[in-house]
Amino acid sequence: MSQTAAPTSSVDSLEVKDNRTGKVFTLPITEGTIRANDLLQLKGPGDETGLRAYDPAFLNTASCRSAITYIDGDNGILRYRGYPIEQLAEKSTFLEVAWLLRHGELPTQTEYNEWVHHITYHTYVHENVKRFLEGFRYDAHPMSMLCSSVAALSAFYPQAHDIHDPEQRNISTIRLIAKLPTLAAFAYRHAKGLPIIYPDNDLTYVENFLSMVARMSEPKYEANPVFTRALEILFILHADHEQNCSTNAVRAVGSSHVDPFSAVAAGIAALFGPLHGGANEAVLHMIKEIEHPKNIPAFIEQVKTGKGETKLMGFGHRVYKSYDPRAKIVKKLADEVFAQVGMDKDLEIALELERIALSDDYFIKRKLYPNVDFYTGLIYRSMAFPTDFFTVLFAVARTAGWLAQWEEMLLDKEQKIARPRQIYTGYAERKYEPKITDRFPGVHNKDPLRK
Ligand code: SDX
Repeated sequence: MSQTAAPTSSVDSLEVKDNRTGKVFTLPITEGTIRANDLLQLKGPGDETGLRAYDPAFLNTASCRSAITYIDGDNGILRYRGYPIEQLAEKSTFLEVAWLLRHGELPTQTEYNEWVHHITYHTYVHENVKRFLEGFRYDAHPMSMLCSSVAALSAFYPQAHDIHDPEQRNISTIRLIAKLPTLAAFAYRHAKGLPIIYPDNDLTYVENFLSMVARMSEPKYEANPVFTRALEILFILHADHEQNCSTNAVRAVGSSHVDPFSAVAAGIAALFGPLHGGANEAVLHMIKEIEHPKNIPAFIEQVKTGKGETKLMGFGHRVYKSYDPRAKIVKKLADEVFAQVGMDKDLEIALELERIALSDDYFIKRKLYPNVDFYTGLIYRSMAFPTDFFTVLFAVARTAGWLAQWEEMLLDKEQKIARPRQIYTGYAERKYEPKITDRFPGVHNKDPLRK
């Protein structure tokens, strides 16, 4: 007997028989999914709650419906709002892509001029933020500085908490995209012990970022056009990537209706991890550890026998089971940048590592191909960025995607505060019988350990 309304066609459904009760349920299939909540109607004898779906790390769970980014992992396809990443990387700019991700359409020239103007004139941060960053030690990791300074901005824009006001969402989006490069550059200069360089409104978004990072005593920074274009392309490639770990963090934190500065800070924290955005930094550490191409076979063996302890950083992906399309573009970019700065021992190791890994059955069987992080670190290093700054560059770019996803979540009528369930594996009820007799040692009673 069917327990739910018949779907549009009998093929767009599952007939599920619950062998505990003999009942048969029709579960509608829509957009390649079933609704987890439809499982609640399957109740065993004496079961009040019904079935739940168990999916640790969301390996096979759609958490939302999104129109922003499309990935086909088997065929190595990545599109932002339908536009292939290859075409955007070749012809677009990061700010045009940031507009596209949020609005769903390419900007008209008027829209684009206004957008660039607003971003350009919101690059400064309150002087107290500069002092806040000065409080860090010289060797503070720049991702820690970026994460905390972005969270701190929520204290400077209390009106950003009004996330239901489109104007507030708009100005917060402008502020975050405009100020991330400034905060990133300030963190860089702090680590170098150099005076900070304020934004220069005569420069483009990427040129201005490079100026805040690298300008010394010259009155005007002259960006290297190869580096400027390379960074523009890398920002485009890193701008969004559907429901990755950090975007999931931004959506989950944003679903509590906190301000976007706090939600983006949560995304930066997630991106910091070596399995996610921190991989580009980890790739360089791995290449340094290998040290010479002759050591690669032994390293590969260690990865294969290391029982998951040693990973080939920059390889593998939860979604891409073929070559990450971004990695192809970045590899070509690496060739152009190295033509500019000269071939590099680390690049030789990377190319040999990739060649060996792509022919080794262990990696082929597990569909482990280079991902976007494998070559980006080498390019950043050739541009003289320190290794611990690579993920900061990833965060600057991904802020555009996080904000588009954050707003899409807020405007999605189906979404509410993210609150998953669990399978409880702990104790059944038991009586409290403490092993301690002195509940406040050394505070209200004589401390037996303090002589
Ligand atoms: C990014 O999600 C996104 O979209 C992320 C991102 C984005 O733009 O937001 O694309 C950016 O984070 C790229 C990924 C960067 N991370 C790394 O390069 C770190 C190294 N890669 C791995 O840690 C791993 O591949 C992940 C985390 C990327 C994906 O892990 P999964 O999908 O959970 O896969 P898994 O860990 O279940 O691995 C399946 C098998 C396992 O072996 P077995 O237990 O089956 O024997 O493959 C092995 C893993 O041990 N494996 C690796 C490996 N990655 C997976 N073995 C060696 N080296 C690796 N890199």
